[in-house]
Amino acid sequence: MRRSSLAVGFFLSAMLAAGCGGKKSEGETAAPSPSSTPAAAATGGTSVLATSRYDSGPRAGESPVDEAKAAQGEKLFQTKGCTACHAFGKRVTCPDLAGVTQRRTAAWMENQILHPDVMTKEDPIAHDLFAKFSLQMPNQKLTEDEARAVIEFAKHKDKGAAAAAH
Ligand code: HEC
Repeated sequence: MRRSSLAVGFFLSAMLAAGCGGKKSEGETAAPSPSSTPAAAATGGTSVLATSRYDSGPRAGESPVDEAKAAQGEKLFQTKGCTACHAFGKRVTCPDLAGVTQRRTAAWMENQILHPDVMTKEDPIAHDLFAKFSLQMPNQKLTEDEARAVIEFAKHKDKGAAAAAH
């Protein structure tokens, strides 16, 4: 789990510069190749577990929504850069977050938000997403509490979508 924060910081800015989504100008090359990521070097290998250790148990959306936290999470989702890459109900070049709380556990989501670089190396689900989207989600430096608020926001979005479908 150890990694040089300097290297990750550099990687983060490289990723942000590369962007993710519709605003990128044409002709730019895609994200740096996975083999050149400093995180890969820092973790000393890329052994991927067969099953995700964070994804067993009830899905995040099965627990009640804390609406106060969800409101806080909505703001964080905008201010912490998530909207550059993610939306609900719309897939740009990063995963569509609609239904994410029905797909994943809260623990998995929290780890993905707090340690996305480690997750793509060590967690099979994140690794698959990384293979599919060819982009490493950068660490947006949220606290645990902020990550949990964002998860409440995602739960709120999914509950709203389920209600609208009825
Ligand atoms: C530079 C683009 C980018 C930014 C910024 C970003 N992400 Fe991601 N996110 C990704 C990519 C790409 C993946 C797929 C895993 C990978 O390749 O790293 C992902 C995966 C995820 C997943 C799992 C999706 C699924 O289908 O299981 C969640 C949840 C998530 N991101 C939440 C966030 C939140 C919350 C923020 C803001 C704090 C954020 N992301 C910021 C690109 C981004």
